[in-house]
Amino acid sequence: MTTEPVPGAAAAATGDGSGDVLRVEHINKRFGAVTALHDVNLHLGRGEVLGLLGDNGAGKSTLIKIMCGFQPPTSGRIILEGQEITLKSVDHARSLGIDTVYQDLALINELTVYHNMFLNRERTRWSLLSNRSMRRTAQEQLDRIGVNIPSVDAEVAKLSGGQRQAIAVARAVTSSAKVLLLDEPLAAMGAKEGAMILELVKDLKAQGQVSIIMIMHNYGQALEVCDRINLLQHGEIGVPAGPRGAAAAEICLTLVPSRRRRPCRAASAGTAGVATAG
Ligand SMILES: Nc1ncnc2c1ncn2[C@@H]1O[C@H](COP(=O)(O)OP(=O)(O)O)[C@@H](O)[C@H]1O
Ligand SMILES: [Mg+2]
Repeated sequence: MTTEPVPGAAAAATGDGSGDVLRVEHINKRFGAVTALHDVNLHLGRGEVLGLLGDNGAGKSTLIKIMCGFQPPTSGRIILEGQEITLKSVDHARSLGIDTVYQDLALINELTVYHNMFLNRERTRWSLLSNRSMRRTAQEQLDRIGVNIPSVDAEVAKLSGGQRQAIAVARAVTSSAKVLLLDEPLAAMGAKEGAMILELVKDLKAQGQVSIIMIMHNYGQALEVCDRINLLQHGEIGVPAGPRGAAAAEICLTLVPSRRRRPCRAASAGTAGVATAG
């Protein structure tokens, strides 16, 4: 890791001088002729839940993959707790406290649920896997979150998309991450499973120990759980066009602090529940 102090980073973060846990500045990402991200700036406060919304192909997953060390930006800076960092890999990001649930998950289908829950952080005793201990903890964690699966001994391949998603989310939230990046954690879920994940995110927020960026495609769900929402369009965080879009922009870009969430929710009645394609 290279870490360099960023002059005035904390003060410049949000304008409120309190500093952010994570910021990206002037991020550009090109894939050959395709510009996936253009001058993206985003910040995440401590204990905050930030929703990232946008249409399919807007660049949401690309941005998450840059923040989690999966791929480097073409240019731009990533600042973690006031220090500029150059992420070398996903493991490197994880070692710094940035954990991710990808849209195209990262579970090993041939392994059991509990082995997946402890992937890359297996418990061992005298160089042997502590299966009993991992099994028990995995079961406790899933119970706590309210995820229903036939057995923690089941192969992940045998589970539904929603169950796999729930396991990936459970794995990430039970790590000791400072920053959680969730790429469409509700995508493959039924209403009940999705509601459980939203409750879980609310619980984590109440505990205030982790900061979360969550890609979502449903304004209603986003307003229910997020402190703020950023809208990504065609690789840029900006204001959507059109009268209806303007209303959405107001919600999204005025940033919705929790204490003002009730009036904002009422104001958003027209957009709540509207799903974008992303
Ligand atoms: N590895 C890649 N190679 C080439 N183009 C890519 C790659 N990853 C993403 N893109 C392109 O970048 C744009 C943004 O994609 P993505 O970040 O997946 O969008 P979203 O998650 O918002 O749907 C799309 O045009 C996509 O085709
Ligand atoms: Mg995506």
